[in-house]
Amino acid sequence: MKFLSSRRRHKAVKPLLLVAALFLMGGLYTVAVPEQQSSADSGTSTQVEEGRALFQVGCSSCHGLNGEGTSEGPTLVGVGAASVDWQVETGRMPMAQQAEQAPKRPPVYNREEIDAMAAYVASLGPGPDIPTEAQYSPEGLSAEEIARGGELFRTNCSACHNFAGAGGALPDGKYAPSLQGVEPKHIWEALRIGPQQMPVFGPETITDEDVRTIVAYLQSLEQEPAGGLTLGNLGPVSEGLWAWIVGMGGLALFAVWIASKGARSK
Ligand code: HEC
Ligand code: HEC
Repeated sequence: MKFLSSRRRHKAVKPLLLVAALFLMGGLYTVAVPEQQSSADSGTSTQVEEGRALFQVGCSSCHGLNGEGTSEGPTLVGVGAASVDWQVETGRMPMAQQAEQAPKRPPVYNREEIDAMAAYVASLGPGPDIPTEAQYSPEGLSAEEIARGGELFRTNCSACHNFAGAGGALPDGKYAPSLQGVEPKHIWEALRIGPQQMPVFGPETITDEDVRTIVAYLQSLEQEPAGGLTLGNLGPVSEGLWAWIVGMGGLALFAVWIASKGARSK
């Protein structure tokens, strides 16, 4: 270490140490990052193990010991973490008794247990992941964007869920539930997994940005005071009314125009 004591050497050592430290960090980074990514995708291995244990106690009677499905319940291979999160957090699963459609209930499992079972099911095959808040949060959208959410909703969703999101009956005693008070995360998840008769709306049809506008639109419906008498609160009715006024107004103008043309050609 004697060379370090000379002043000139000492000056050169600092940048060298810096370079060495950078190399070391780079090395650590390449070692550490792939590990982080795989744990984000499919959960840590202990989490998967915990999830498997919970699953085998609470779910395997219908979904099979390895999620392969039985006559009592479908296979869960490839349904993804988002499906487990939605089904279990809305209390639909574990299904209490055989029924056409599992009703919404208070959840039976806590957050940690749901994450573990979701990680286990995700480890069986690739499927939609649980979204981050940035993917569904309606924060910071403009009035125009929310209006676009309304358009998307009327085009893609209102046939089953009704114009005001109040829900509606479907054939064979099934139903599309009311969307009032549904958490934004569950809206994202329902779109991506398409439970029961609901079609899957993938990111190529409805982007995350579009989902955010739909969430914001549904929240704007809820924020309107119930029973208000202003035009705006009547939602689809007032839109129908406007269409009528504009339509009739247009027809009247057209009639006037025809009449004036007719008068001129004489
Ligand atoms: C009594 C039987 C039963 C039990 C117990 C049960 N399920 Fe289900 N599960 C079903 C049936 C039937 C369906 C299909 C009907 C539906 O989607 O509503 C289903 C659907 C699902 C789906 C959606 C699958 C898809 O194709 O999208 C998931 C995810 C799921 N169950 C997870 C679980 C988990 C996790 C548990 C345990 C906590 C559980 N289930 C317990 C019967 C059961
Ligand atoms: C063909 C009918 C149909 C269409 C179209 C449809 N849904 Fe659904 N939706 C359903 C059914 C049925 C369920 C309930 C599934 C179940 O009980 O497992 C559902 C469930 C949901 C849920 C879950 C509600 C809860 O209680 O957690 C949300 C959110 C949702 N739909 C939103 C939408 C949106 C937004 C659209 C349009 C982009 C849409 N749906 C289009 C039939 C439909």
